[in-house]
Amino acid sequence: MAAERTLIIFKPDSLQRRIAGRILTRFEDKGLKIAGMKLMQISEELAHEHYAPHKERPFFKPLVSFMTSAPVVVLCLEGSRAIEVCRKMMGATFGFAAEPGTIRGDFGISNQFNLIHGSDSAESAEREIGLFFNEGEILEYAVTDEAWLADES
Ligand code: RTP
Ligand code: MG
Repeated sequence: MAAERTLIIFKPDSLQRRIAGRILTRFEDKGLKIAGMKLMQISEELAHEHYAPHKERPFFKPLVSFMTSAPVVVLCLEGSRAIEVCRKMMGATFGFAAEPGTIRGDFGISNQFNLIHGSDSAESAEREIGLFFNEGEILEYAVTDEAWLADES
């Protein structure tokens, strides 16, 4: 399986609650590589574009307002099956329903304030990485344990 990239956002509540570092540690522990990372304030326009697939949903307006309310950390994580692995680590959408052991299951109980976003498919990942990162902001580099982490024989 070739390395895959996914777009992760530590939502405003992660930073406001000062747990962004602990969440990042989980992904590093799992063996994902940081290919891109930045602190930013999401504009209304970017939030609209990012969550465009949900634009007709009743929660769209509060979602945009939440995502633009304070700074976020945006990451491009890379590794074998990164999209699926990150979604599993995040847990179900609502904190109260997310399994213990997952990020949402361990750190929150809210429905909307659920700490983290992760791309849900290869198509979404490509679209979302393009929205948040400019050329030159995603770096290609080797890490020493890569061969051990990527093996699927
Ligand atoms: P995300 O896109 O942020 O990774 O979350 P997800 O795939 O688990 O959930 P999704 O259905 O894509 O919903 C996007 C975000 O909208 C908020 N939401 N609120 N109040 C509600 O009924 C409701 N439903 C969704 C959450 O912040 C969710 O992560
Ligand atoms: Mg989603």
